[in-house]
Amino acid sequence: MSKIDTRLNVSPVPPDEIFALNGAYAVDPHPQKVSLGVGVYRTDDGKPWPLPVVQKAEKELVVDDDLFRHEYTAIEGDVPFLGIARDLMFGFEGKQGEEEVKARIGTVQTVAGTGANHLGALFLAHHMKPPTVWLSNPSWANHQTIWELAGVPRKTYPYYHAATRSFDFEGMMSSLESEAQEGDVVLLHACAHNPTGLDPNKEQWVAIADLCERKKLFPFFDSAYQGFASGSVEEDAWAVRYFFNNKPDMEMCVAQSFSKNFGLYGQRVGAFHYCTNRASTSLRDVVVNNLCHLIRGEFSMGPRVGCSIVKKVLTSEELTADWHQDLQVMSSRIKTMRKALYSELVRLQTPGTWEHIIEQNGMFSYTGLTPKQVYALKDKYHIYLLKSGRASISGLSQKNVTYVAQAIDDVIRNEN
Ligand code: LMR
Repeated sequence: MSKIDTRLNVSPVPPDEIFALNGAYAVDPHPQKVSLGVGVYRTDDGKPWPLPVVQKAEKELVVDDDLFRHEYTAIEGDVPFLGIARDLMFGFEGKQGEEEVKARIGTVQTVAGTGANHLGALFLAHHMKPPTVWLSNPSWANHQTIWELAGVPRKTYPYYHAATRSFDFEGMMSSLESEAQEGDVVLLHACAHNPTGLDPNKEQWVAIADLCERKKLFPFFDSAYQGFASGSVEEDAWAVRYFFNNKPDMEMCVAQSFSKNFGLYGQRVGAFHYCTNRASTSLRDVVVNNLCHLIRGEFSMGPRVGCSIVKKVLTSEELTADWHQDLQVMSSRIKTMRKALYSELVRLQTPGTWEHIIEQNGMFSYTGLTPKQVYALKDKYHIYLLKSGRASISGLSQKNVTYVAQAIDDVIRNEN
């Protein structure tokens, strides 16, 4: 091998598991292959689903023929979109006194949810210098990467109780109580926790908010599934709104994605919201100004097309109602497929307990399958899921659920 002549100092980093799996699935010629890897919505035919409301909005945008549609936006993004995104997240409904409350929130457009998490991490790393960011164990793997790149030390709090396949509320609380320091960031999944599908209940959220306030921790919400998880945008925003409305003396932030709830995965639509406490609203503009400095240096401004679609939908009563319908379609199909997989495994008397599949919430199920079983599913049955046992339920359909359940049954019974 010839010697490589370079000034670079690079060594390979592990490929991103989710997208590597997606690539492997795409080139697998097996006729019964099943993708339970990447979190994207699929129809019962296994096809992508451009939302009907999005298709309507796209047609209307063509008719509008806006001369400015390919122009630059402001650095903070498409200004009307920013207000719309904020109102969706925080639930403002034109009530009296809202302007004062809105003054606590500085919003900028981002490159979808990853971009919002990244921008938030970078901003806090520069301007708050948190000693530690606390991530749930487990969490979306990209959270580790994002905070690592921002240079913030990372620790994890217990989240998943493997023996009972349930949310480890006590573990989370006692670890944050005893180990987290004033000024630390706590990353929280607003709903549909990725990868476990296990969320705190409302009482537990109240306790988490109290803990953050008392210990002066900074809550950082990642909201990637608003409306997609339960079918209700209100329900899925409950935790964010509770923290914001009931802890007005606390600062917090939210990374908001429109990838799943509008099916706009490749359009990269998102927003980052920084909430000042009620005594510091005068800080809001300087926060936005500093966020804009980071945005300008990194990508100048967020992309336009996807946010025009969201804006079109959420500024029309009729289209908003259609969108709520589409959310129902997606969330109901996922719930139906959870039930179908559960029923098949029970019917087959597959060793183990499977109630967690119907109890978990949102796109993913943390199945409890071991890495070895996951490998066997891929090797023998061409069924793809993450080695943690996370399965994207949306990859299941009426046509493949029996095949998947039988495969799971087989790899569990015939281990070794
Ligand atoms: C996932 O977790 O599969 C999705 O959120 C896609 C991604 O960006 O990782």
